[in-house]
Parts: sequence; C-alpha cells; structure tokens
Amino acid sequence: MKFTPKWRKAILTLHVITAVGWLGADMVLLTLGVAGLTGGVGKDVAYPAMSLVGAFLFVPLTYLVWVIGVVNAVGTPWGLLRWWWVAVKLVIVTVMLFLVTFLLYPGLVHAGELKDALPRRDQINLVVAPSVSSTLLVIATVLSTYKPWGRRVKPEDSPSRAVVGA
Ligand code: HEM
Repeated sequence: MKFTPKWRKAILTLHVITAVGWLGADMVLLTLGVAGLTGGVGKDVAYPAMSLVGAFLFVPLTYLVWVIGVVNAVGTPWGLLRWWWVAVKLVIVTVMLFLVTFLLYPGLVHAGELKDALPRRDQINLVVAPSVSSTLLVIATVLSTYKPWGRRVKPEDSPSRAVVGA
C-alpha cells in the first residue's frame, strides 16, 4: 500500500523535521562535549546538559527517525531496500540506534552524574562519539538530496513497477 500524494508530503515533512532535528541535537552534544573537555563551560554544567539533551531530545529522535524513515520508505515507491541511497541510510540509522542505546546514552548519564570527576578518557569519548555520529548524519543528508548509485533491485525483481515520484 502506497501513500496518497497528500500523505506522502505530510510524512516527508515529518521525516525531514525529525531527521534534520536529530542532526541538530547531535551538534549540540558535540558543542557541549568540546566545551566540557576544553573548559569552555564548567563540567558541572556541560555534562548534566549533555545528559538532558540526550534523554529528552537525542535518544527519542533516534527512535522517531528510524520509525518515520522506514514508514516513509515503505509507503512510497522508493521502497526500503530497492535503492542504494535508501538502503545505506537504513544501515546508518540502524547502526546508530544500537550505538546510541547501548553506548552513547549510558555514557551521557554517567557523565551527568560524575561531572568534574569524569575521567579524561570518557571526556574525550564525549567529543569523539558526537563527531562520528554527526558525520554519519551529514552523509545521510547528502545521500538524501543527491540520491546516488541507482537501484539495488532491478525493476523486474521489484514487487511494484510504479514510477518513483522524486
Ligand atoms: C531509517 C532511515 C531512513 C530511511 C529508510 C529514509 C528514507 C527516505 C525516503 C524513502 C525518502 C524519500 C521520500 C519521498 O520522496 O517521499 C527520504 C527523504 C529524505 N530523507 Fe530520509 N530516510 C532515513 C533517514 C534519514 C536521515 C538520517 C536523514 C538526515 C539526517 C534523512 C534525510 C532526508 C531528507 C532531507 C529527505 C528529502 C529528500 C528530497 O525530498 O529530495 N533521512 N528518506
């Protein structure tokens, strides 16, 4: 089942708001991580703020982006695995979902609790992790606009031969 044009626009709008908002939240984490490491603001401010942004913005957006991205793909002629640019975005967001759930978020909570006492290695990790994830999300954004590499699945293998309305 595919979306009507009205629904397609609405879901795409939601998709872009959540996905690009997610990138923005990631850049806020990076800014705070750098500020905490370099003393731009006190660690007692930077790390609790990171923990807050993680809990109320970054982590919820991670799940929302995955769900809305998948709905957006299956509800349009793009499909989830038919085109390389969509499939690669799915891989990026799925890998990030696991990293955020099992590594980044526990690290943010830990940092918010320890503040000044956070070991330097963990402080550096709080700069490296959002740097890597922001880079991945910039790549996902570029893939979305340039849509490179063509089809993964040939039209005759695909369940629908509908023309993709890019
Ligand atoms: C689960 C992961 C994702 C999937 C399956 C997915 C899938 C899609 C699909 C199928 C479209 C085209 C929709 C249409 O034409 O109606 C689209 C558009 C778009 N996506 Fe994603 N997406 C994902 C994640 C992301 C992420 C992480 C970003 C950016 C951070 C992003 C940014 C965009 C943008 C900006 C567009 C609009 C492109 C245009 O209209 O030319 N997406 N996405």
